Amino acid sequence: FAPKILQGMSLLLTAGPTREAIDPVRYISNHSSGKMGFAIAKAAAEMGAKVTIVAGPVNLDTPLNVNRVNVKSTQEMLDAVMEQVHHSDIFIGCAAVCDYRVADIANDKIKKSAEEMALALVRNPDILATVSAHKQRPFTVGFAAETQDVEHYAKDKLKRKKLDMIAANDVSDPALGFNSDDNALKVYWANGQFELPATDKLTLARQLLTLIAKQMKPA
Ligand code: PMT
Repeated sequence: FAPKILQGMSLLLTAGPTREAIDPVRYISNHSSGKMGFAIAKAAAEMGAKVTIVAGPVNLDTPLNVNRVNVKSTQEMLDAVMEQVHHSDIFIGCAAVCDYRVADIANDKIKKSAEEMALALVRNPDILATVSAHKQRPFTVGFAAETQDVEHYAKDKLKRKKLDMIAANDVSDPALGFNSDDNALKVYWANGQFELPATDKLTLARQLLTLIAKQMKPA
């Protein structure tokens, strides 16, 4: 049983990793499995929201009543998000987005020759900051994956990216965060914070969405 606290709302979210090609057979990416984002999508649909998930390459089934857009690179994820953002009430950036991409993707497989080689990388656009700067911005929620000083870095991202809320996870613990079934979140907004202790990602998703609904409609 899920209370329909998001009935009538549209939620857009990103999940999973992005993947940046090096050549036709290699890429740069990270360990995000998509489990956290897909749990949020499932919970939000159960709570009555119209949900679109923009997913990087992950091996997960689409939850019931969720619209899914598959992407690979950060630029593709940004394009898919910006196509949907104007009719969204809530945006959650749960994807582990590659901060950099390869400057020149090789057309052919790079051959092994020199003892050392260097890859030139260029900064990717920031999807979350682009959404929060949009003139018809939805209630914008970021995630922060940190290995140290979680509160400090999360609060800095909340301010710098002009977010309504940020959910921080400590990804130094292999039992939580990336690619695990459980997680724990420290959630911050302009004048408040709430700690969601370690539990399975679906329970945590329901708790996070309840916090978001409360912040959107302060009593
Ligand atoms: O997928 P799982 O295996 O279940 O793992 C879940 C998770 C650990 C990936 C997830 O809970 C999480 O923390 N996601 C955010 C990971 C991340 O990239 O954090 P960050 O601190 O580097 O980025 C901060 C925020 O900016 C995030 O909301 C991110 O989506 C966003 N971002 C970052 C870079 C960029 N170019 N564009 C962005 O939108």
